[in-house]
Amino acid sequence: MHPNTLTMVLLFVSNSAAISIGSASNFGACAGQTVTSTGNTVIVGSVGTSPGTSITGFPPGQATSLNRANFAARRCIADISTAYAACKGALAPVMLTGQPLDGKVLSPGTYSYATTAALNPGATLTFDARGISTAEFAIQVGTSLDLFSNSKILLTNGARACNVIFCAGSSVVIGTNAGVNATIVAYTSISVANEAANRGGLYGINGAVTLINNRINSCSQPLLDLSVSIG
Ligand SMILES: *[C@@H]1O[C@H](CO)[C@@H](O)[C@H](O)[C@H]1NC(C)=O
Repeated sequence: MHPNTLTMVLLFVSNSAAISIGSASNFGACAGQTVTSTGNTVIVGSVGTSPGTSITGFPPGQATSLNRANFAARRCIADISTAYAACKGALAPVMLTGQPLDGKVLSPGTYSYATTAALNPGATLTFDARGISTAEFAIQVGTSLDLFSNSKILLTNGARACNVIFCAGSSVVIGTNAGVNATIVAYTSISVANEAANRGGLYGINGAVTLINNRINSCSQPLLDLSVSIG
């Protein structure tokens, strides 16, 4: 094989985690049971629950639309469940079990933690698309994912938040003032602390999404200027 052909094949393999979240891209948050917000959460995108019907805290929270067990909410949960399965099933992951995400610069591909994964307080994790704006990143987490206070998930060299997906087998905690450029899917629930911001959407398939003064930008909506306090 010509060396260039080999490079092309390797690039194709390392970029092969093509995962669509479908209609969930219209949602900043959807959950199986409840979405609860305290304070002045701003969601550029919809909010939904299905089969649960409880959405509270809007207003004063703002969102494009509220969907309580309606057709759009059912589709959100169905489409995000499909994406979760695709993320969990992505082949040939790089094993990162036991390693903090702190300071890592990850290139396109699939990564896996057998149990928990964490980004510690104030630490950064960067996704580097190497100039390929369609590059995909999938991070499989066996159980819980903790993105602690003031941690940041950043993008470089053309990476897009909506091409980064985390699939966690139990729940996800996002700490105070964290900045998260990624689609986050939890099998159960996502709990977000004060002032954290997300681009990519937050999805709790079977449980709750709990918010406090957060800013969330869904994938299908134009990017709101979130730069003020998340730096
Ligand atoms: C997303 O990443 C960009 C580029 O690294 C950064 O400037 C921005 O603050 C991040 N957004 C969030 C919500 O963390």
